[in-house]
Amino acid sequence: MSRRTTLTQYLIEQQREHNNIPGDLRLLIEVVARACKAIAHHVSKGALGDVLGTAGSENIQGEVQKKLDVLSNEILLEANEWGGNLAAMASEELEEIHPIPNRYPKGEYLLLFDPLDGSSNIDVNVSIGTIFSVLRCPDGEHPTEQSFLQEGTKQVAAGYAVYGPQTVLVLTTGNGVQSFTLDRELGSWVLTTRNMTIPADTHEYAINASNARHWYPPVTRYVGELLAGKDGPRGADFNMRWTASMVADVNRILVRGGIFMYPADKRDPSRPGRLRLLYEANPMSFIVEQAGGAATTGTTRILDVKPQHLHERVAVFLGSKNEVERVTGYHAP
Ligand code: AHG
Ligand code: MN
Ligand code: MN
Ligand code: MN
Repeated sequence: MSRRTTLTQYLIEQQREHNNIPGDLRLLIEVVARACKAIAHHVSKGALGDVLGTAGSENIQGEVQKKLDVLSNEILLEANEWGGNLAAMASEELEEIHPIPNRYPKGEYLLLFDPLDGSSNIDVNVSIGTIFSVLRCPDGEHPTEQSFLQEGTKQVAAGYAVYGPQTVLVLTTGNGVQSFTLDRELGSWVLTTRNMTIPADTHEYAINASNARHWYPPVTRYVGELLAGKDGPRGADFNMRWTASMVADVNRILVRGGIFMYPADKRDPSRPGRLRLLYEANPMSFIVEQAGGAATTGTTRILDVKPQHLHERVAVFLGSKNEVERVTGYHAP
């Protein structure tokens, strides 16, 4: 049997060869990966566990929390509190940052996460996931919300898990993107795709087209040209997919290419899109760029956006480079 590389082996080899994953960062990534395993376990129970339906509460974004949003958040907080590698955490499901309690040692990193992405898909048994981002804490052992407001270029690691037909963990530490598949018998993450790359060209796009009447002209023009197919200006037919779980849509793009869009629209000019910069757009953009793709807000590179608030939203265009550049070009004044 050919030797299988586990997540632990991969991280240690990276440290030996490239010196880019210090021991404390490796342990932190492994703890997050272990928490994702626990979440995967609960997800797979479905109606047999107490994991479907709503929790009867709302998060700071005004979304009704599902039981699994709350449970996944608790699993990630608990798993990462005591390890000694973090100064604080932040989550989609918590209004404020979560400093490491005084009873535990503190470390030099900040962890941000979307504990359960694609909440609307939980009860209908469609792929969902977890997204995370790791930053260095610039303020030692006394982090504030301000400590988290760093550009995406400052991320030292980012990843996501998809709880789908297979459970996968996709990770970057700034040296390419690797995909690991959960081996449930062994309980370990096995490296199954090295150096994922997104083709620069694609004939597949993802957007929630039910919002078409609210779009701004650049998005209307771009999607209109795709819809026109081979008789239109693009001279080719394009296929559409929309999962309503960013993890599943981005994972498809990493596997076979595509462009994902969640634009700002006319409904609320004060709201720049739906997705959250710090724990959805930034980690996904880091991964996509590391795989050779591109990610913009329509006007700027997402990783260069200077965050103003923990839960701020941002418009997202990401995936195959030539398509992201084209739609970004359509936004130019
Ligand atoms: P979350 O479940 O973490 O709140 O995120 C849902 C996000 C994202 O996963 C997805 O791309 C998008 O919301 C779906 O939005 P629509 O319901 O507007 O399609
Ligand atoms: Mn949500
Ligand atoms: Mn999400
Ligand atoms: Mn979520």
